[in-house]
Amino acid sequence: MEKMEILSSLRITKTVLAILSLVLLSNIRVQAQGILLLPSQKPSQRETRVIQIGEGATTNAHDSMLKFVNSSSFPNRETFPRGFLFGAGTSAPQIEGGSHEGGRGLGIFDEIYSGADKFDTKIEHYTRYKKDVQKLKILGVNSYRFSISWNRVIPDGTLKGGINKEGINFYNNLINELLNNGIEPFVTILHLDYPLALQKKFGGFSNHSNVKHFKDYSELLFKTYGDRVKHWTTFNEPEVQAVFEAVYNVGKLSTDPCPTTKICTEVYTKLHNFLIAHAMASKLYKSKFQAIQEGEIGLVISSESYFPYSSKLEDVDAAQRLTDFTWGWVLEPLFHGDYPQIMRKLVGKRLPKFTKNEKEMLKGSIDFIGINYYTSHFVRHEPNRTKVTGGYFDALANTEDINAEGKTLGYLDQYGGRYVYPEGLYNFLLYIKKKYKNPKIYITENGIPSIKIPNPLKDKHRIAFITAHINATKTAIDDGVNVRGYFAWAAFDTFDFKDGYSHNMGLYHVDFNDCLKRIPTDTAKWYKKYLTRDLKE
Ligand SMILES: *[C@@H]1O[C@H](CO)[C@@H](O)[C@H](O)[C@H]1NC(C)=O
Ligand SMILES: *[C@@H]1O[C@H](CO)[C@@H](O)[C@H](O)[C@H]1NC(C)=O
Ligand SMILES: *[C@@H]1O[C@H](CO)[C@@H](O)[C@H](O)[C@H]1NC(C)=O
Ligand SMILES: *[C@@H]1O[C@H](CO)[C@@H](O)[C@H](O)[C@H]1NC(C)=O
Repeated sequence: MEKMEILSSLRITKTVLAILSLVLLSNIRVQAQGILLLPSQKPSQRETRVIQIGEGATTNAHDSMLKFVNSSSFPNRETFPRGFLFGAGTSAPQIEGGSHEGGRGLGIFDEIYSGADKFDTKIEHYTRYKKDVQKLKILGVNSYRFSISWNRVIPDGTLKGGINKEGINFYNNLINELLNNGIEPFVTILHLDYPLALQKKFGGFSNHSNVKHFKDYSELLFKTYGDRVKHWTTFNEPEVQAVFEAVYNVGKLSTDPCPTTKICTEVYTKLHNFLIAHAMASKLYKSKFQAIQEGEIGLVISSESYFPYSSKLEDVDAAQRLTDFTWGWVLEPLFHGDYPQIMRKLVGKRLPKFTKNEKEMLKGSIDFIGINYYTSHFVRHEPNRTKVTGGYFDALANTEDINAEGKTLGYLDQYGGRYVYPEGLYNFLLYIKKKYKNPKIYITENGIPSIKIPNPLKDKHRIAFITAHINATKTAIDDGVNVRGYFAWAAFDTFDFKDGYSHNMGLYHVDFNDCLKRIPTDTAKWYKKYLTRDLKE
């Protein structure tokens, strides 16, 4: 791939970021995943909390939640199943920094965000990991979710190109440091970033050749770290990544004309290759390592519940369709070996086919599902594909914040800029239980940014958000859903792929004006109190 002119100056990069934040904020995260309604759970029947949007409403919602949290009815840690993981998460491209240190090869994000407000060095977890582990220990978490940078351990992505010892050692040290402090590593093998060399060589995951290299990379990780890492996930939100790369063409990684034609092909090829790569790595783990290492392997999807915009049949169908086109796209192959029927029907020849072998390999290739949950949406039928605003043109569906009756799902949190609807999480969990015979689930991401508060440390709105979702999780567990862990996103402020450093998501705020100090927010203090209560009493 030629050096992209568009990224040649910081100013232009910032523009790209700004456009990205607009496009991605309003579409990708929003469109990322969905849920089919259980018949008994139409929002009108399950109380849809309708709260007037405005400062007073937000404050009331927060106060009533915090009152509940302070009461004895809030489920304390000991009421969760034995061995339940309470953690926090990050990913390598979002916090590691040190892009040019320790023999690391470049990743696609180094190119996409080159110069973007010092993407490559800013949080500096690479050099501060020991202190960061101490911060995690103070929180009282028993697990930490992080990702390994493929290009740090294998700089050009291929074994032939060589393994980087320093990179291998970095993760050895991090893993040992975590375990020595009583924290279980929960490892993502690929979190959006991957070696730039593979992208330049053959277009990354749009080319099936990438699959083999992913398998080699995974094998190296299982071999090197599997004696200590017991929780693996192959991909983080592969469906979001496919849309991000192929439909929005972030970083001009794709040559698919679909951003203008709205008829996309590569997005389906990419996800297809992600799934096959996942299945091959998983098969390898299960056949060669699992019995000895006694770990588990899964995959992380983005989830949101989709509710019909109105009671019209076309909107009810649209909500179902978007559900199938988002998380059904990933979960149906993993559980049943093929894409949802409706996708075959609407996407036709552009949707790749799995071979018989691949189908067999996919089925049962996950020990658990990781789900990232932030918010939920209404869905409205849109017959004209050029008017579909999200990336899912073939689904002929648009998401909406406000339904035909003027209602919202939950309330708009003015400090986080998102609708808060924990019932959407509950709904999603119950649906998964029913549809896929109660698989094991971890909530791998859940959180809200602090964007409109004067003091990022005074993040009461986030305490309200996280506790409301812990409550929804516990309610689902009481209703029989097999949830085994909850990870707040994020442990530290991170570089956000859509919003740069402007969205504080961290339990620990990173002070860019004071030597990158990690300072606990009020949410971190609450989480610590919640998690360590049993130790104190
Ligand atoms: C809940 O308790 C905290 C102290 O842990 C306190 O700061 C807060 O004001 C209380 N909130 C309500 C609504 O009672
Ligand atoms: C895919 O990669 C192979 C090399 O493994 C190469 O021969 C082929 O041209 C690539 N295809 C595309 C479309 O880049
Ligand atoms: C679809 O929408 C586009 C504008 O986005 C418009 O130009 C076109 O005429 C519409 N097609 C139909 C069949 O309504
Ligand atoms: C706890 O979660 C359940 C399920 O989502 C919900 O019905 C209940 O209202 C929640 N409690 C509070 C105080 O939000």
